[in-house]
Amino acid sequence: MTTTPILILGGKGKTGRRVTEQLDTRGVAYRLASRSSEQRFDWYDESTWSLTVAGIDTAYLAPPVGPTGLAQAGKFIRQAAAEGLRRVVLLSGRGVGSPGRDFAVYESSLELENQVKASGADWTIVRPAWFAQNFSEDFLLDYVLGGEIRVAAGDGGEAWIDTDDIGDVMTAVLLDEQHTGETYSLSGPRTLTMTEVAAELAQVSERPITYVDLEPEEFVAELIGFGQPQEDAEAVRDLFAVIRNHRSEYVSEGVQQVLGRAPRDFADWARATARTGVWSA
Ligand SMILES: NC(=O)c1ccc[n+]([C@@H]2O[C@H](COP(=O)([O-])OP(=O)(O)OC[C@H]3O[C@@H](n4cnc5c(N)ncnc54)[C@H](OP(=O)(O)O)[C@@H]3O)[C@@H](O)[C@H]2O)c1
Repeated sequence: MTTTPILILGGKGKTGRRVTEQLDTRGVAYRLASRSSEQRFDWYDESTWSLTVAGIDTAYLAPPVGPTGLAQAGKFIRQAAAEGLRRVVLLSGRGVGSPGRDFAVYESSLELENQVKASGADWTIVRPAWFAQNFSEDFLLDYVLGGEIRVAAGDGGEAWIDTDDIGDVMTAVLLDEQHTGETYSLSGPRTLTMTEVAAELAQVSERPITYVDLEPEEFVAELIGFGQPQEDAEAVRDLFAVIRNHRSEYVSEGVQQVLGRAPRDFADWARATARTGVWSA
């Protein structure tokens, strides 16, 4: 295990925050770096990169979503490895490199994985399914609160994963070099369509929630209307296209492989999350 602090990029986000909580519990030192942290780091401001990795041996990377951001992350990893970064744990996405994903965002994610592998640093790649916490901590929360989940997922299913499970996996991988050279695909234990998700959330939150299946271009227009850059809106459309095309209807064993236990079911996660009051607002 590394003796220098572990660098956590994206440490205030949905996965990074859970990794830092686990490291706190274990008394492991880390350096959190993002635009709003004490160690300022910006994927798009290369002048912040060298100081961020100075004296760091191992890093957790939660990269940006769109192709431009993913390209920046690739550039960063090449530079960081040249400056002494020895080991990287990369958050990627489930299905990257698989057939039926001929979209820029998937190609950019695969390119980033390849750049990590070619960087000279030791690597572990973790490819999770869609996060359940998108409905409680990210862009789908407002839809839940508004009672209409307006996305372009058709009637496809996804094996939604609790990011607590991702945090546990990332921490285990960061702390044990035996995972070097492995690629893990993670998911929850069953697939749910967006209609089933809406029904589960309606039940636990005791509020009406329905799924409105948008046409992909209608979805992009709505996201841009909410202030998303076009490139990111199109990336989100294409990520949903994989669900829409029924390419996500499978479960993956990564949580069991790394942690030796089953992942948490969406319904358990939803019940516990409802108790936090996040959907009562
Ligand atoms: N959501 C899903 O269902 C899903 C599924 C599979 C994979 N993923 C992947 O997960 C990654 C996102 O991880 P996450 O959900 O854990 O993060 P997140 O919740 O989206 O949080 C983003 C983090 O990155 C930081 N950040 C944002 N813009 C930045 C910038 N320009 N420079 C430096 N730091 C920046 C933020 O902190 P500051 O605001 O302080 O900068 C924050 O800590 C993406 O690559 C996505 O493709 C997501």
